[in-house]
Amino acid sequence: MFSFQQILAQIESEIHRLQLDYPPKSLYDPIEYILSLGGKRIRPALALMAYNMYQEDLTPAMQPALGIEVFHNFTLLHDDLMDEADKRRHKPTVHKLWNPNVAILSGDAMLIVAYRLMGETQAPYLKEVLDLFTQTALEICGGQQYDMEFESRMDVTEEEYLEMIRLKTAVLLACSLKTGALLGGASPEDADHLYAFGINIGLAFQLQDDLLDVYGDTETFGKNIGGDILCNKKTFLLINALKRASESQRETLMEWIGKTDYDPLEKIAIFTFIYNELKLEQLVKAKMQDYYQAALAHLEALQVAPERLEELKSVCNQLLYRQS
Ligand code: IPE
Ligand code: IPE
Ligand code: MG
Ligand code: MG
Ligand code: MG
Repeated sequence: MFSFQQILAQIESEIHRLQLDYPPKSLYDPIEYILSLGGKRIRPALALMAYNMYQEDLTPAMQPALGIEVFHNFTLLHDDLMDEADKRRHKPTVHKLWNPNVAILSGDAMLIVAYRLMGETQAPYLKEVLDLFTQTALEICGGQQYDMEFESRMDVTEEEYLEMIRLKTAVLLACSLKTGALLGGASPEDADHLYAFGINIGLAFQLQDDLLDVYGDTETFGKNIGGDILCNKKTFLLINALKRASESQRETLMEWIGKTDYDPLEKIAIFTFIYNELKLEQLVKAKMQDYYQAALAHLEALQVAPERLEELKSVCNQLLYRQS
């Protein structure tokens, strides 16, 4: 079995070798840019780690694993445009460095490149892997649509939020793990447990992302802090703040949510102050632990020797305490 670090090294070298077609170079430059900025590569790593529980030679799983990473990077180009985010992986976002049309079109090309890579899946698994990928990609669009609609709604429930993050984030982690399992020849039961494991880890993963958006450090996070607050994103934090606020805290939140002309730093400071007063960070951490425990139960249910699960467990544990 390979270590997480060994798997990451292989992914990095394969990404470097990806054949991006020219011309026009201007279509592919932003693709090379975003892919060269790194990121955690957690999705292809999960795919390959799941696969590696059942098979030793990673080669047959590599192209689909890369397809998932290219797809993920495509969603980031469009997400940053939709979220008006200036910074990603410590660098300017594609629509800032180039312009919005570039982010749209190079993003579209990445989605197609991702499908081409998924299409290199070996014959007996091709249909199942492509069906899962297509289903997942549509679910992510649905999640992103909810995410945007929720910005202008004030009655979003915690349940609606959890379904939104299941769709926008968790299903891709789950799809990565299940794809690896399918390619590795896992039983349908194991593949489904790995999918469910991924959903639970993915929910915790997005909760941590929402926390870092408020409490992270720009230098380590690589994205601007407070972006969610400025967009009135209905995160777990804001939903619970509105639910638990005193009358005066609620009035303050509502007043700032309605403002169009304000000092961004002031809004971020005020929201963060109220989140702190309500001790929401602890609430999120507890919720993440619940999902982590639920995830572990699915790992324990696999027909795999316990020592083959250790690396995946440790990676997922680190993911929940990550600072970037
Ligand atoms: C960012 O994903 C989008 C979310 C689902 C939170 P990652 O946090 O995996 O971003 P990179 O790929 O490591 O940059
Ligand atoms: C992103 O959620 C989910 C997808 C890209 C599909 P966020 O909008 O929270 O991700 P970041 O924080 O910009 O990475
Ligand atoms: Mg975003
Ligand atoms: Mg977003
Ligand atoms: Mg975020």
